[in-house]
Amino acid sequence: MTILELLEIKHPIFLAPMAGVSTPELAAEVSNQGALGSLGLGANTSSAAKELILKTQALTEKPFQVNFFCHQSESLNPDIAQQWIEYIAPHFEKFGTTPPTQLNCIYPSFLDSDDFLNIVLETQPKAVSFHFGIPHPHQIKALKDEGIITMVSATNLIEAQQIEAAGIDLIIAQGIEAGGHRGIFNQHFDAAIKTLDLVQLISKHCTTPVIAAGGIMNGEQAKQMLKAGASAVQLGTAFVQCKSSSANAAYRKALFNQNITQISASLSGRPARGLIGTWHTEIDRPNRPNVPAYPYTYDLAKQLMAIANQQHDFSYGAFWAGSNVAQIRELEAADLVNQLVLEIKSN
Ligand SMILES: Cc1cc2nc3c(=O)[nH]c(=O)nc-3n(C[C@H](O)[C@H](O)[C@H](O)COP(=O)(O)O)c2cc1C
Repeated sequence: MTILELLEIKHPIFLAPMAGVSTPELAAEVSNQGALGSLGLGANTSSAAKELILKTQALTEKPFQVNFFCHQSESLNPDIAQQWIEYIAPHFEKFGTTPPTQLNCIYPSFLDSDDFLNIVLETQPKAVSFHFGIPHPHQIKALKDEGIITMVSATNLIEAQQIEAAGIDLIIAQGIEAGGHRGIFNQHFDAAIKTLDLVQLISKHCTTPVIAAGGIMNGEQAKQMLKAGASAVQLGTAFVQCKSSSANAAYRKALFNQNITQISASLSGRPARGLIGTWHTEIDRPNRPNVPAYPYTYDLAKQLMAIANQQHDFSYGAFWAGSNVAQIRELEAADLVNQLVLEIKSN
């Protein structure tokens, strides 16, 4: 069975799930065009996740994927947290305020309970994908028993082999060019492999179909991935500018005006690629202390971003973007899908 038959889609194009940017409207627009829409639900509560899935199902009868975070939950080291709060304090003071005295775990992992699993089983989206790790065996079995397609991001061959051994249906090969968080299982070890090389590597050593993600902005790049062994391509950055995404005005403007991205763990506690801002220029200095565990670090960053935004300083924004952001085009989601299809078909 081809991947198009498996997912019941017309085109080998996936909208990347993007927590903070995904909306039911964007997902439905992509799915209605015959590609695979998606919802990044990792930062939601289970009841909000359920509402978003139901809303998407009301907007499209076509398949889409939902996405959750499968990180190993870490406890917060109080000394590291305290040092970090003190290190970031001058940035709060710049806006006439003080940092919080403690950091909270702002969202749980899919692994921590079966709350998200139960929502997925109840609402039955076509596919579910995971970032930062693999669900528990009983969770994979429950999804498979319902015929829900499973996918997990891999950034190196070892992760891909673990995904295959767990019986997951599709491997998302996330290359170093990708915008947003690196899907690495262990944030301290990153092979930093380019998308094209990763697709070739995983296709050679695994039998599970591979989806290419990272730095794909047009049909020409998509075609290269498909030729290298990918069964489909997944694009994130290219879709952030669409009207139906929930990106704010400052983020949209920055996508077209700034060309340079960098990876930093200072925003959330895990490495993620985004447009260069104050996090990269002022916070990631050689004397920077260790960041607290993910997602505790993100609690502080989100509070700082909110205060900075209120005072019209957008340089602290989490403007996630892939390294090919300079090739971004102003196109609505349906037009972007159609354009990619045309470009993939052209010689
Ligand atoms: C704004 C943004 C948010 C993202 N959020 C998620 C997420 O919630 N879950 C996930 O699996 N991947 C997430 N990613 C990573 C994408 O799945 C994908 O790997 C990446 O967008 C591909 O690279 P590109 O942005 O160059 O197309 C995000 C990417 C972006 C740009």
